[in-house]
Amino acid sequence: MLLASGLLLTFVFSASASYTEKLARSVCTLLFDGKIPADTQAADFDADSSVYDNENVLGQNQTWADIIEFPDVSSSLVYSSTVVMKKDSLWTNIDVTLSCCRSLISLNRFSDESIFAPGGQLQSGFRRSELIPAINDGTDITVQGTTTVHWSLRSDSSKPFNLSHEYQLVFHETSDFSTSQFMLKTGAPFGQTFVESEHKTLRLEGRQTTSATLFSTPFDDDVWHNFAVTVAWNSTSITVFYSKNSDSLSLANVTSNDNSGQGQQHFGILKLPTGDAGIDVAHEGFQESGLNEGLIYGGIFIEDSSDGCITLS
Ligand SMILES: *[C@@H]1O[C@H](CO)[C@@H](O)[C@H](O)[C@H]1NC(C)=O
Ligand SMILES: *[C@@H]1O[C@H](CO)[C@@H](O)[C@H](O)[C@H]1NC(C)=O
Ligand SMILES: *[C@@H]1O[C@H](CO)[C@@H](O)[C@H](O)[C@H]1NC(C)=O
Ligand SMILES: *[C@@H]1O[C@H](CO)[C@@H](O)[C@H](O)[C@H]1NC(C)=O
Repeated sequence: MLLASGLLLTFVFSASASYTEKLARSVCTLLFDGKIPADTQAADFDADSSVYDNENVLGQNQTWADIIEFPDVSSSLVYSSTVVMKKDSLWTNIDVTLSCCRSLISLNRFSDESIFAPGGQLQSGFRRSELIPAINDGTDITVQGTTTVHWSLRSDSSKPFNLSHEYQLVFHETSDFSTSQFMLKTGAPFGQTFVESEHKTLRLEGRQTTSATLFSTPFDDDVWHNFAVTVAWNSTSITVFYSKNSDSLSLANVTSNDNSGQGQQHFGILKLPTGDAGIDVAHEGFQESGLNEGLIYGGIFIEDSSDGCITLS
């Protein structure tokens, strides 16, 4: 509710309100809008009215107010202008500026406390802070037909990661929690020694058991990395788009993947432990104490691409 009124009130219109709004909102049908009103406080993420699940995924004794900050960095790609591609033809640049909403969410108090306990069982091997769209119950509209999930992320030099560890930064987990259809990772894969050229990278991997890398790019500091992933939930088609900073998204891969299992979209940090091959990484392994890490997310939304509509900028 907050979100809807925020949007209506504060578009900065370059044409008539109804015209601009129609173009900006309906060329591709928006299924989930991850933006939040500008006056949102971190504690609002703990309320039932949050557009994100207010109970998952965070440390057993944490609140979102303990985790989220609003960083002072330039806005990410998708909320400064809108260029929409429908199949192969480019639509007109619409140039809508949103002044209402924060598109930036920083999971910047990632700490020793970030131990999730599903069903009361501590996952003491992992550290986790992940946002899930509140509407995304595992079988909802975001996992039907063909959808495109968008996000941008960037490092925070004051809260660096320890890339000797493997991190998942965005992933889509099946509704039975048994596996993931795709995962964006960085850092040394569990069990490997960190090699900067190979592991200071953003790697989008396909179905968890297949180890297919759909796309990989250097994880340059302090720039926006923009992603979109189009998933056909009832076929094997998956498409990856990527760009940096304010560049329009470019096609990075069209390939096949096991997309079955519906499920939930996670935006956030899942840090694996280090340890011996074969350990139960959720419950065993080593995590150093005194964590002070963070990552900045922006531009989160999910749109319907069943008719081939994908927002590219
Ligand atoms: C949360 O607090 C309880 C009670 O103090 C404690 O037993 C538990 O270990 C804490 N959980 C974490 C993840 O620190
Ligand atoms: C990074 O992680 C490795 C492996 O857990 C650990 O040995 C090292 O002390 C960590 N470095 C920092 C700066 O925390
Ligand atoms: C596209 O993904 C496939 C895995 O399905 C991979 O083998 C291939 O290298 C990828 N192509 C690019 C350009 O990354
Ligand atoms: C798509 O897959 C879901 C989940 O497996 C299933 O419930 C649904 O009936 C399928 N839809 C079509 C059109 O095949």
